[in-house]
Amino acid sequence: MQPLDSQELTRARDLLRKGDVVAIPTETVYGLAASIASHEGLKKIFSLKERPFFDPLIVHVGSFQQAKEIVAEFPPLADFLARRFWPGPLTLVLPKAASVDPMITSGLETVAVRYPAHPLAQDLIKMVGSPLAAPSANKFGRTSPSTAQHVKTEFEGSNLLVIDGGPCEVGLESTVLTIAKAPNGDDQIRILRPGGVTAEDLREALDRWSKPVEVVRAESAESPGHLKHHYMPTIPLILVSEKPSAQTLSEIAKDLALKSLPKHARELDLSEDAAQAARLLYSEMRRLSESGADLLYVLETPERQGGLWAAVWDRLTRAASWTKTDGSRLDPESP
Ligand code: TXA
Ligand code: MG
Repeated sequence: MQPLDSQELTRARDLLRKGDVVAIPTETVYGLAASIASHEGLKKIFSLKERPFFDPLIVHVGSFQQAKEIVAEFPPLADFLARRFWPGPLTLVLPKAASVDPMITSGLETVAVRYPAHPLAQDLIKMVGSPLAAPSANKFGRTSPSTAQHVKTEFEGSNLLVIDGGPCEVGLESTVLTIAKAPNGDDQIRILRPGGVTAEDLREALDRWSKPVEVVRAESAESPGHLKHHYMPTIPLILVSEKPSAQTLSEIAKDLALKSLPKHARELDLSEDAAQAARLLYSEMRRLSESGADLLYVLETPERQGGLWAAVWDRLTRAASWTKTDGSRLDPESP
């Protein structure tokens, strides 16, 4: 990380105030931020990222007060979760306030809110004086950035200001959740995207909540941007149960319509430790894609389950072009 020039934050503040975008560090991944008060700035996020307008943005706030101002309602259970996990990698989808620009919410009646823990993100939100909408700072569908250099490489040629806050501590995106009603009338937490706050973390916190609450994983369709193919590196990534044999490689080449047989397949070797695996996931995906390899493979191992692994496998499954784990081939699709 380069030492932060104190004038850089001021420059970022000025750019954001006049409706420009700036890349900012958060504890999860880097974000491409615009002030929620600038319709022009919000539009620039979508065009720079080449993101379709149907995919809504997360609003990053710098206080509980700011969070309350952009929602129509902050139910007691949401308040309880916010007090337990904010600032941090938790995004709450709540009914939106009328003042929130529909460009942020893709016309939905809900808005996604997060209070990031990174001190530079907090400083900047305070300096700008309004919350910042920010998706991950990558081109749509591609691998998210967990260092400032990743963002610079991704947007090479643009004059995007990137605030360097060092490598992201969590390394993958926040948990996105919404609160619904279970069939028995109890509150139900629906995880739209697994992330830095795990289902286990939520259940443990809920031990101190007065009523029973079920925590369930939602269908992908409930989150407009949580697409089947996402986070893809620039070379094909496959999930397999063992090192791919020559025969598997030729099957893959055929299925993915590759011009030639992969000659430099490399393993993306995940740490045994889930937090470490999450932290390095996107860095490793990028590093190996740029290493001269022509195929990346990840060994799916049954012991890597639960906790943060849910988020790691979620990302890997969406990043994969091809999977063969139990002898049956699934879903070939070229990145
Ligand atoms: O950790 C993070 O959340 C990072 C950092 C920069 O804060 N941001 C991030 O943003 O991952 P993005 O845009 O890459 O992903 C936002 C996700 C998408 O899957 C989107 O569909 C979902 O949040 N989302 C946003 N608003 C929503 C809403 N109103 N209802 C349901 N899902 C929503
Ligand atoms: Mg993203």
